[in-house]
Amino acid sequence: MSLGAAPTFAFEPSDDMVAVDERARRLIDPGFGRVFTDHMAIIRYSEEKGWHDPRITARQPLQMDPGAAVLHYAQEIFEGMKAYHRPNGGAALFRPDANARRFNASARRLAMPELPEELFLESVRALVRTEKAWIPDNDDGALYLRPFMFASEVFLGVKPSHEYIYMVIASSVGAYFKGGAPSVSLWVTREYTRAAPGGTGAAKCGGNYANSLVAQAEAIRQGCDQVVFLDAVERRWVEELGGMNIFFVFEDGSMQTPPLTGTILPGITRDSILRLARDQGITVREEPYSIEQWKADAESGRLTEAFACGTAAVVTPIGSVKGVDGGFTIGGQSAGPLTQRLRASLVDIQRGQAPDPYGWVEQIA
Ligand code: PLP
Ligand code: COI
Repeated sequence: MSLGAAPTFAFEPSDDMVAVDERARRLIDPGFGRVFTDHMAIIRYSEEKGWHDPRITARQPLQMDPGAAVLHYAQEIFEGMKAYHRPNGGAALFRPDANARRFNASARRLAMPELPEELFLESVRALVRTEKAWIPDNDDGALYLRPFMFASEVFLGVKPSHEYIYMVIASSVGAYFKGGAPSVSLWVTREYTRAAPGGTGAAKCGGNYANSLVAQAEAIRQGCDQVVFLDAVERRWVEELGGMNIFFVFEDGSMQTPPLTGTILPGITRDSILRLARDQGITVREEPYSIEQWKADAESGRLTEAFACGTAAVVTPIGSVKGVDGGFTIGGQSAGPLTQRLRASLVDIQRGQAPDPYGWVEQIA
């Protein structure tokens, strides 16, 4: 059976669900990525059958053959999106169609089969409907959804797998950055790069993150919260953080963000901020910005704010930047006025506290 436009997911309820009072306890301060829900979505793929056997089932460990291709050659991609609590008690997704499209762009880059968009969307909707009670009902809280796909064929030859497993798991989350600091600090790595032209920088594949870990560890050793990567060719153009895009704000009220040249992830938050800013009359350039210029502009006061953005991080002010040749601070090292305004515009739409003129929000439960 190959799945068509209106897939239905078999439902196999967990017989080991977390008790209501224990769930409430876990939702008080969930942190990021440690509290998981009771169920997961799963769909299998084989060359003969195509996508088949879609199910919502109990979240449980996987049994894998140690020869499964993903364990050796990292043929794996994922997405990150959130379901939000609505003022009416329901749940909503933010631009899930954009995640579905990016998932397939990642699949093409990793030589994996595309998943029909409707199947991606329905897997996420079905899981959120099942796990609605796990959405924390507080300011920063959301149900973080992690769709992913990996090569499951048991074969050690280097070639695209003939079999895949697609899954969605869900995690109740609060703010990505804890500690309540008004801004984050960045470490500019000179030793490591994240992605080269022609590489996988624009795909959301696990390998990109594995590659970033040593640089992120260097950032932590340097006392910084996050690493910021420069381009792999000239080693001077600011690209992005390990898991977030970046924006710069200038004293004339304009903004700038690195262009999508294939080495950075095309963030859905980035795209939404571009749209919101332009519709608010702000000039935004998608142009390269060098680390030397960033330092000079921060020191002269021409640069007034900078922020990171992504699904997990939402909009996070950047307060200071450190590198081998010294460091600099940005503005008052707290959220500047434009950062605050854009964050509020975005979050209010996501959480149903402002009208949604773009049709970005999908109410699902
Ligand atoms: N850049 C990287 C490397 C990321 O992992 C993410 C997070 O998904 C982003 C940017 C932001 O993307 P989005 O706004 O779609 O979450
Ligand atoms: C996301 O924001 O969804 C990501 O994948 C980034 C990761 C650092 C959690």
